[in-house]
Amino acid sequence: MDILSDYVVGTNTIIPLKDGSIVKYINFDNAATTPPFKSVMLSLNFFAEYYSSIHRGEGYKSRVSSEIYESAREDVLNFVGSNGDNTVIFVKNTTEAINKLSFKLCNVYHNYAILTTQMEHHSNLLPWRFRFHVDTIKTDDCGRIDLDYLERKLKQYNGLVRLVAITYASNVTGYINPVHDIAEICHKYGAKIFVDCAQIVAHKKISMTQENENRNIDYLAFSAHKMYAPFGIGVLVGDKKTLNVGVPDIKGGGTVKVVADDFVMWEDLPHKEEGGTPNVMGVVALVSAINTLNHIGLDNIEKHESELLKYAAESLKKIEDIIFYCDGLENRVAIMPFNIDGINHNMVAKILSEEYGIGVRNGCFCAQPYVHKLLNLSNKDIKNIIKDPKIENRPGMVRISFGLYNTFEEIDRLAMALEEMSKK
Ligand SMILES: Cc1ncc(COP(=O)(O)O)c(C=O)c1O
Repeated sequence: MDILSDYVVGTNTIIPLKDGSIVKYINFDNAATTPPFKSVMLSLNFFAEYYSSIHRGEGYKSRVSSEIYESAREDVLNFVGSNGDNTVIFVKNTTEAINKLSFKLCNVYHNYAILTTQMEHHSNLLPWRFRFHVDTIKTDDCGRIDLDYLERKLKQYNGLVRLVAITYASNVTGYINPVHDIAEICHKYGAKIFVDCAQIVAHKKISMTQENENRNIDYLAFSAHKMYAPFGIGVLVGDKKTLNVGVPDIKGGGTVKVVADDFVMWEDLPHKEEGGTPNVMGVVALVSAINTLNHIGLDNIEKHESELLKYAAESLKKIEDIIFYCDGLENRVAIMPFNIDGINHNMVAKILSEEYGIGVRNGCFCAQPYVHKLLNLSNKDIKNIIKDPKIENRPGMVRISFGLYNTFEEIDRLAMALEEMSKK
């Protein structure tokens, strides 16, 4: 499967180390952003010949650009296994999509509650917190969602919860949530489900619609920069009826049919929700990435990445003083957080970068409540962080996250580096 690295730009980049030597860079930070597919770069170059203003131009290039942009919605709907009741709104990224959804749902679910989980990225916590009464589903001791707890909460709220906002896969532990089982529970209690697909979209096949429609996903969002198309584009997918309620959050060019001094007639969806000049280059990149992921096959990607994860777990567990935070390797995307006892997470990441040419992420990964829980921090510890939130004193972990192009040899290099570090 090493051949998969041929699909991606930058897998042979040589970089300098602190001692002046040079090595081939290893990127183990794919949960943050993936490098582009070669096919994506080629598509952009090809399309650049036709690139022009979209929607309001009658020139040939404008018409081509508009057609490509509009037909991309169907590509996205097919990719996420959606039906015709849904629409695709193009946004900058997952964060913008969730902010938009929370703004929209405010019109529909005013005075209702939203349930989210302790496992969420801040982007799936904060937009809800400032618009709704939000309650959190706590994770169990291993950091996984407890479905009985979720059901008990929904029962307690007695119909007041209208939405459960949950991630498909955690950006800290890689745990995959059984979103269709969760959807079934939500629907039983009259709640809809929004699924944050940022960490799943490039790693496992998604299907919003299921044979049993109670198991359908109602809304989802993802960013293209985590699926080999890093050009400022993402999507929000959801039903046309709810997303059409109320005024758009971003008002301006492209969102209106008629404007007079004292009158506005809004455009129809999805244009009403895509204020400003659309990112057509981003959409071209996104469609190209979708085509390439389909061509490789998400099942093949999932298999390769889960083998990488297993191999990493086996290799890293031999390292003295390593601390793991996850339980089991099943139902996980290829993300692994750890610490080396006695060395600050920041220092581990710095040494890996400067002395070994390996890029990883460290800190709390924009999921502080979850990382605090996994680190077993007390309320007093958290209060101390609030008193002195200097970056070097903050708690955290080191995270490696694999993409389809990573190799077993790269994991060997990481294991060797960590082994040397832990012995120093
Ligand atoms: C689970 C999850 N949700 C949301 C986001 C936010 O994505 P973006 O920064 O592209 O908006 C991320 C980013 O890391 C993530 O991992």
